[in-house]
Amino acid sequence: SGENGKGLNIDKSKLSPEELKKYEKGYQRNAFNQYASDQMSLHRTLPDVRDKECRDRNYATELPDTSIIVIFHNEAWSVLLRTVFSCLDRSPGHLVKEIILVDDFSDFEHLQAPLQEFADSQEKVRLVRAKKREGLIRARLLGASVAQGNVLTFLDSHCECTMGWLEPLLDRISQNKSNVVTPVIDVINDDTIQYQYSSAKSTSVGGFDWNLQFNWHGIPDHEKKRRKSDVDPVRSPTMAGGLFSISREYFEYLGTYDPGMDIWGGENLELSFRIWMCGGSLDIAPCSHVGHIFRKRSPYSWKTGVNVVKKNSIRLAEVWLDEFSKYYYERFNYDLGDYGDVSARKALRERLHCKSFKWYLDNIYPDLFIPGESLASGEVNGVFNSQSQPACLDSAADKKAYNKAIKLWPCHNMGGNQYWMLSKSGEIRRDEGCFDYAGQFVMIYPCHAMKGNQEWIYGPDNTLRHKNTNLCITLSEDGTKIEMKACTGIDRQIFHWKRKIPDSDVKKTEPNGQKLLR
Ligand SMILES: *[C@@H]1O[C@H](CO)[C@@H](O)[C@H](O)[C@H]1NC(C)=O
Repeated sequence: SGENGKGLNIDKSKLSPEELKKYEKGYQRNAFNQYASDQMSLHRTLPDVRDKECRDRNYATELPDTSIIVIFHNEAWSVLLRTVFSCLDRSPGHLVKEIILVDDFSDFEHLQAPLQEFADSQEKVRLVRAKKREGLIRARLLGASVAQGNVLTFLDSHCECTMGWLEPLLDRISQNKSNVVTPVIDVINDDTIQYQYSSAKSTSVGGFDWNLQFNWHGIPDHEKKRRKSDVDPVRSPTMAGGLFSISREYFEYLGTYDPGMDIWGGENLELSFRIWMCGGSLDIAPCSHVGHIFRKRSPYSWKTGVNVVKKNSIRLAEVWLDEFSKYYYERFNYDLGDYGDVSARKALRERLHCKSFKWYLDNIYPDLFIPGESLASGEVNGVFNSQSQPACLDSAADKKAYNKAIKLWPCHNMGGNQYWMLSKSGEIRRDEGCFDYAGQFVMIYPCHAMKGNQEWIYGPDNTLRHKNTNLCITLSEDGTKIEMKACTGIDRQIFHWKRKIPDSDVKKTEPNGQKLLR
């Protein structure tokens, strides 16, 4: 079972008590269905998931070879070995110098002597072990320090490489050592272990929000226009971090990772910013597909007591974000805590003559919403009759609120769920959640930066008009909710929202605050 990437549905009610125990234990230890994975061949076949154009592409005849570095901690046997074999089986032999398995201090029995025996039996597999729990970042550094290939390819330990995955990555790097490149990451279902692939057209690029959380977006229009074909490399502002290839020499030149970062988190953004700001480029190769099991929770425990991701993120903000770090720090009232010494990383930035974060935002990630550039911000209030108290547009903007209607609530003047910003591209938003109208009701939906259902016009008449449908946000007559109605400019369509003087005009303002006449 599992052949051709198929999934396996385990019917728990049909398992014997013995099997059920195994099944439950597999889930508990891995947070994916180890029991299903164990039924599948370590060499299972996969469909050729590439777009048709990819199969006819020609790559340089002399490609650099790569060390494939796989960090693991208490990984399931079948999943780890399938990662190794899927890469070996589907790569031209001369391009794989070695596969380096880095054991980040596992204690599962099968990862001790049995794994060493496995590594010894495979010509290209090397096993190195950390002497204590190091975390992803330092374990990768350990792997890189012993690697001998010209390129380093980092993979997670629950992946499957598909036909033709490697050549597009190495080809990009052979064109220019400063190209860093990631495969398209397909989903391997965590319950059925089914390989689910996506076409090049639906490739996503990496971004981030001002919580310094990584996120995915559709390919922006300007990038679609720049490329000649759907299978050309796509520029990505950031990478998810688990899977990428980089020239070994360039990785070292660029300062590898920040060794002051602990465990994991933030290192992917730090490296992404560093690549772009210090003269490199970061692309996704749509012809290279690697599957990855996405888990719903982490099965590991860390006994650190400190918020590691926050500490790592502050380190990167201090070194790379310049004046934009305030948008992150505002989230926790500038309570930076002890984030250690970053002077060596600042010196690195100096030494490499890296560009500013402003440059990065303007040139590499122009689609990112920058709170300081919003055209209006604060509460959005209206009245439904001349006697009524102002009512405010109200909603959480986090994931839990997605797909839910915008509510009307007495204004409380405390920001929070009533604080909204109008972006330059016409979104009414906060963080990642945008006002969205698809014909039913106005709801909060993840911002997609494609205008469409999320484009609004806050006109000089103070109405909130939905560009696509030409309807206006209107308070219902009884003042209990909002509706979408033809724009007639009645009182129930008038909303007060604090407009911001654009920065460009602020600069032309006299010191006493008087705006210059133009
Ligand atoms: C590689 O890319 C960098 C940055 O874009 C550029 O400055 C350099 O000239 C390129 N090198 C080659 C050999 O094309």
